[in-house]
Amino acid sequence: MTRRQHFLSEMLENIRLPYEAKWDGPAAGGEFRNQVEEEYFQQFVDNTEPQAVILDLACGDGRHTLRVAERVGEVVGLDLSHNSLAKAKKKCSVRDNVTFTHGSIFQLPFRPNTFDGIWFSEAFEYVPPDKRRILLSSLNNVLKDSGILYMSVETWQSPSIITSLKQLWTDFRLFCYWKFIKRKPLLWGEFLYYSPVKRINWSGWHYHVHTSKRTLCKLLDECGFAIEKINLSDDYIYVLCCKASG
Ligand SMILES: C[S@@+](CC[C@H](N)C(=O)[O-])C[C@H]1O[C@@H](n2cnc3c(N)ncnc32)[C@H](O)[C@@H]1O
Repeated sequence: MTRRQHFLSEMLENIRLPYEAKWDGPAAGGEFRNQVEEEYFQQFVDNTEPQAVILDLACGDGRHTLRVAERVGEVVGLDLSHNSLAKAKKKCSVRDNVTFTHGSIFQLPFRPNTFDGIWFSEAFEYVPPDKRRILLSSLNNVLKDSGILYMSVETWQSPSIITSLKQLWTDFRLFCYWKFIKRKPLLWGEFLYYSPVKRINWSGWHYHVHTSKRTLCKLLDECGFAIEKINLSDDYIYVLCCKASG
């Protein structure tokens, strides 16, 4: 195993920790992060047929799974965290068109051409730069022809240049700390940040990756997706795309 492979397997464990932390506070409860997310959600469900089969990838506590299930034929939720899945199952217990599976986004247990749409919200920050292409290609593979993909992708970019530069500087400092002082085999975009005990019962260094809009557009194009709509808002790139023909 190379140093990089060893680091990535450590990070996969690191990612799970805050989500496995047990806390009694209210779950996200079906709230949308902001108006942009809600608009993309509306467009996503409006673009799917009532009998559509949708994958909620890295579904978390199911805050969107339930909403999607109200509008389509069938939803499959997949997540790495047992604790999040237990919450999602409880939340969606009122519906009989939702199933959940425990697993990793990097080893999808689905056949090619299974889904009419993939909802992938706030989890691309856990995809290492050297795994992005393989992940997006596997999403393309499990989508039916002209299937749709929604993603919200964490970024240092913002509509304000000043805010973008400040966030880029923060990312750069964290990257340098872990790469050159802690001597971890990081690629640009990756960092660990300190997450204090706040809403959840966990504190520690947590792995994230930031992606720029330009990089994301290039990746989506290379992996066979045509972008229909893209926006920057609240530290995320929101994007809706469809599987390109040919
Ligand atoms: C910020 S939460 C987002 C949850 C949900 N999609 C939402 O928008 O509320 C990130 C989720 O990604 C999941 N996750 C991270 N890495 C994963 C992986 N390799 N495979 C599956 N799920 C993963 C975490 O367990 C967590 O539930």
